[in-house]
Amino acid sequence: MATNPPPRRLRLGVNIDHVATVRNARGSAYPDPVRAAKLAEAAGADGITAHLREDRRHISDSDIERLVDVLDVPLNFEMAPTDEMQAIAMQHKPHAVCIVPEKREELTTEGGLDIARDENRLAHFIAPLRDAGCRVSMFVAADRHQIEAAHRIGAQVVELHAGAYCDSFSEGNLEESAVELEKLRDMASFAHTLGLEVHAGHGFTFDTVKPVAAFPEVQELNIGHFLIGEAIFVGLDAAIREMRRLMDEARA
Ligand code: PXP
Repeated sequence: MATNPPPRRLRLGVNIDHVATVRNARGSAYPDPVRAAKLAEAAGADGITAHLREDRRHISDSDIERLVDVLDVPLNFEMAPTDEMQAIAMQHKPHAVCIVPEKREELTTEGGLDIARDENRLAHFIAPLRDAGCRVSMFVAADRHQIEAAHRIGAQVVELHAGAYCDSFSEGNLEESAVELEKLRDMASFAHTLGLEVHAGHGFTFDTVKPVAAFPEVQELNIGHFLIGEAIFVGLDAAIREMRRLMDEARA
């Protein structure tokens, strides 16, 4: 299938969830994730990502309201496919929504969506969001069947779960990491040939970002935990600028 070449510039979405995790650890008003979002904007973030979880363990409803009010860059609202989250998304109509699986007991989003198994429900779930003008992204493993299902239900974007690649690299399992990287490469290309916009996220660090940033089909990376952790040592501005520099270098 003929597809247009993807734009050369790679966007960086900064996920600010874990600023809220630190705030909530003490039940205080600080550090404020909205302040972090504005700093991220000033440091060159192309978008801000926030995941309102069912248990509100980090981002709160009022954080989302304030982000909608103050952001100058697009908000990517991460959400589980539940009626509650759909209603909140329809109220705010953010630039983008990213549909993710959510299990209450998990530490983070552990895997991609099983769209193939829940295709009918998810097709009906995303239709009003898309009709309301939100760019709909589905968070999936680098798996051909899931990508095909995302395409069939009418999503505009797939975000490829990079966790298996990043985690195996961080654990020193370089062979497995190389295998996972190849899967990401193949599936980025496959998704692009279907006409889907391709994003990637989960687990990126300065050490793992460049190989994926170099894939020409990938148009956006969403990065959070590492940047917020690195900010403790060098500040958020410097952490984001370094990530941006590495992404640009990989893309050059
Ligand atoms: N993209 C999605 C869909 C996610 O669920 C997450 C984690 O919340 C990220 C990107 C960011 O992952 P990390 O915080 O590991 O950079």
